[in-house]
Amino acid sequence: MENRDPSTPHLPDLPILILTLLTISLLLTLPLLLLRTPTSSAPQVGRATGLSSLFSHYNSGLHWLSSSSSLIAEGMSRHGAHGKPFKIRSYSRWITFLTSPSQLLEARQLPLSVLSYRETADEALQTEYTLCRGLMKSAWHMKPIQRDLTAKLARAMHEVQEEAAAAWAESADVGAGAGAGWTRVGAHRAMVDVVSRATNRVLVGAELCRSGEYMAAATALATRVVATAGRLEMLPVVVRPWAARWMLWGDARLETFLRHTGPIFAERRRRQGTWGEGEKPDDAFQWILEAAPAGASFRHMAFTLVFLNLASIHTTAGTLTQVLFDLCVHPHYQPLLCEEAEEALKDGLSSSALGRMKRLDSVIRETLRMSPTNVAVTIRKVLAAHTFSDGTRVGRGSWVAEPVVHANGSRGCYDRPEVYDGFRFVDMAGGRNQCASTSVEFLSWGHGASACPGRFFAVAEMKIVLAYILCNYEIRFQPGVVERPKSSTIGIFQVPDASVELELRRRKGRDE
Ligand code: HEM
Repeated sequence: MENRDPSTPHLPDLPILILTLLTISLLLTLPLLLLRTPTSSAPQVGRATGLSSLFSHYNSGLHWLSSSSSLIAEGMSRHGAHGKPFKIRSYSRWITFLTSPSQLLEARQLPLSVLSYRETADEALQTEYTLCRGLMKSAWHMKPIQRDLTAKLARAMHEVQEEAAAAWAESADVGAGAGAGWTRVGAHRAMVDVVSRATNRVLVGAELCRSGEYMAAATALATRVVATAGRLEMLPVVVRPWAARWMLWGDARLETFLRHTGPIFAERRRRQGTWGEGEKPDDAFQWILEAAPAGASFRHMAFTLVFLNLASIHTTAGTLTQVLFDLCVHPHYQPLLCEEAEEALKDGLSSSALGRMKRLDSVIRETLRMSPTNVAVTIRKVLAAHTFSDGTRVGRGSWVAEPVVHANGSRGCYDRPEVYDGFRFVDMAGGRNQCASTSVEFLSWGHGASACPGRFFAVAEMKIVLAYILCNYEIRFQPGVVERPKSSTIGIFQVPDASVELELRRRKGRDE
């Protein structure tokens, strides 16, 4: 592995760390002072910030972390329903939610010098301390995702299917001999295993994606970075580099990850320009190396790979888990989807076969509509204070965002939006209702310039996984479960209940 990334701050050692941490309690008051002046003139939703409690901003921050979804719902009913914006306080900033079409349009038209989503992503992931400074702003991770990842999936569908099936059999313990009875499976755990293996088959190839050590590190880091970023935000800026070092950099899994990936990047750089016809590898190491700016370190490149895992695994696994929950609540869809998949796949797995799975496309979109991975999207940082034409003023450093569930439940667009209707999108006209399409009435992928660049890959992968599961197994909740498991929120993210175990058994005639 190469020397330390020059963009990574040099960190003093333990004594300074201890001294610095001792000052934390004093510095805790700093954010309060910074937040005392609201940086948005929109009405507030959530806990009062009165000066009576020194730690009110921590209360508000915790409230936002655990209850963002209900806070947004409250804001929508009190203000959004009348086309008014509202603001909610997170730990470090105010987030103003825009709700009226004219305000949303105005926000979208503002220059990047006023509202910028690139700065938001760096701030949300605390990339300066957790990954590499300015990773998201530089945006060179986008090319491997937009161009290479999706294109490779079309060429590597069979490998994805093979890997997903193997991971599923291992994780769900449904390999040969499972018999005709019902078997229990932890739905979320199984989906994380399946998605991380299948995705990494495309990203890093068969050998690494089957290395338990590498996969454990890659999957754990994906969550570790997000969790660390959340914790760092609660700390004063001055202690964040030391805290990050303690929380993340000391993690043995990071070293494991770098040990596996560093030599590969080094070898690829050594061979650059020497590949013969058809020799050049088609994987994330190569894509990242070629997209990286001159002088980028191997550490920076390895962190980009961590980021690809972070962006892809839990979003896709969470959505698949939610789809399985919906299909257990509405089991009549299962044989219909199996029938459709078998018909579509009769000439083999291909992009056009996936394209023919219109019901499955609709079911995934309906699940994403009602159970999105993010409760707020198109989050932009205010770089220069701005006053909207309705008089709402948003201050520098605050964020503006769009609430997802509100748009996804728009009565003008959806008939009975509160009802799960798996085939809702099958008959809705035009390509704009395909699963990967974005619109102002479907914000689960975001919309506009910041929309998810991995969505085409994600939809194809989810179809491959679901077609495999549904054609081979029947799925149900454990006897006695009558309600769909509730999701929980962690700030802007919404996650399915990971403790739920489902039951499955092989479809008749599908024994090993
Ligand atoms: C079901 C699976 C997925 C869902 C629901 C999802 C959803 C989202 C959402 C809501 C955003 C934020 C958009 C915004 O705020 O405007 C986003 C951003 C992003 N997603 Fe996905 N995503 C998924 C899978 C993937 C995959 C497989 C990748 C591939 C690596 C990926 C890469 C990204 C990246 C890189 C961004 C940030 C874009 C930027 O930097 O501008 N996502 N995703």
